[in-house]
Amino acid sequence: MTELQDIARRVQGCTDCALARGRTKAVPGEGPENADILFIGEGPGYNEDQQGRPFVGAAGSFLEQLLASVGLRRGQVFITNMVKCRPPNNRDPLPNEIAACSKYLDRQIELIQPKIIVTLGRHSLGKFLPGQTISKVHGKARTVGEHLVCPMYHPAAALHQGSLRREVEADFRALPALLKEKAPAGAPEEPEAKQVSMLLAGGDAEDHSHYL
Ligand code: URA
Ligand code: SF4
Repeated sequence: MTELQDIARRVQGCTDCALARGRTKAVPGEGPENADILFIGEGPGYNEDQQGRPFVGAAGSFLEQLLASVGLRRGQVFITNMVKCRPPNNRDPLPNEIAACSKYLDRQIELIQPKIIVTLGRHSLGKFLPGQTISKVHGKARTVGEHLVCPMYHPAAALHQGSLRREVEADFRALPALLKEKAPAGAPEEPEAKQVSMLLAGGDAEDHSHYL
């Protein structure tokens, strides 16, 4: 078992915060262990909690569309969340829940060593750029510690709001150039990585307006 797989296993049995009580399945995250891009959302919603996989509802379909717009498939990126268990009624995760769960995300970041971390929405933005407003900083990549962080609107918020949708679409269009900048010329292709989990996606009709 790789250490990322071990993290997933620990998350599935974790009871370190109150969110454990309301969950159906914990959602550790998934993707290649050597992914170039790591997406960090907020927390599982209804469908994610049912399936144990991140971004499988309407926001996930939109995220897949955004990825496709820059020639990427879902299976090429790592996708996870600030908290791995669904907050009741999709409420915001509380600071103490985010704090209890951060050990998993921090280790995932260390192990994956992504070239780019894309934060989706304001909770993951707050992890890297506390006090910043998403409307001001979205689409502007900056180095935070040893990571290149590119904040973006949450797809669930942007999905039903035309202006935000255009913003997040434009921000995605900048990703290929950012990736190129981070890749040394002539660097060999990385070998095929193991997937932490693989299953099929479903649909959803939830209100995610609070993600903004
Ligand atoms: N929204 C999130 O923030 N994360 C998911 O996994 C799904 C929807
Ligand atoms: Fe554990 Fe994180 Fe789930 Fe809380 S949200 S129970 S810390 S895995």
